[in-house]
Amino acid sequence: MYWTNRHVLVCTASHCAQKGANEMLGKLRLEIVRQGLDSQILINNCGTIDLCDIGPNLVVYPDNVILSGVQAKDVKRLVAYLQGEGDMDEFVTSPTSTAEVRRHDLYQEAAGVAPLTEPAFTEIVEKHGFDAAWIDEQARRGFIARKPGEDGAPSITITTKARTRYAV
Ligand code: FES
Repeated sequence: MYWTNRHVLVCTASHCAQKGANEMLGKLRLEIVRQGLDSQILINNCGTIDLCDIGPNLVVYPDNVILSGVQAKDVKRLVAYLQGEGDMDEFVTSPTSTAEVRRHDLYQEAAGVAPLTEPAFTEIVEKHGFDAAWIDEQARRGFIARKPGEDGAPSITITTKARTRYAV
């Protein structure tokens, strides 16, 4: 955005909201105004960015950085970071961050199983430390699709969205 130094999009969709996104966003907006930074740093809320299990998530542009698990208590540090002071390294979600590596490994293993029945996928999911609620969330977000297999039993398809994100 040409008139600001930073543009921050805070996800306030349901999963992030349940984890404290609105409290964090409110405090962030107040702190930005309190420090007189609102002409330089624009804050908006947004819908899901497909990292629902590790929210609250936000995206910082032009840095092109995703920060996850940011809570109201982290806002002062976040504001300092947005001014170029300090870092938010442990909040950064990238292809090499722990949560994304776990998902990558899970999808890589699942992509090698054929046919990928629902019980087989559930076993892989649990092995990688996720649960049934996570499977449902991945289905809602379009990373997997449930379809009847050749024998009519439910099977899992790993979608192009997941294959693209996790390079599997
Ligand atoms: S609800 Fe925030 S990333 Fe999905």
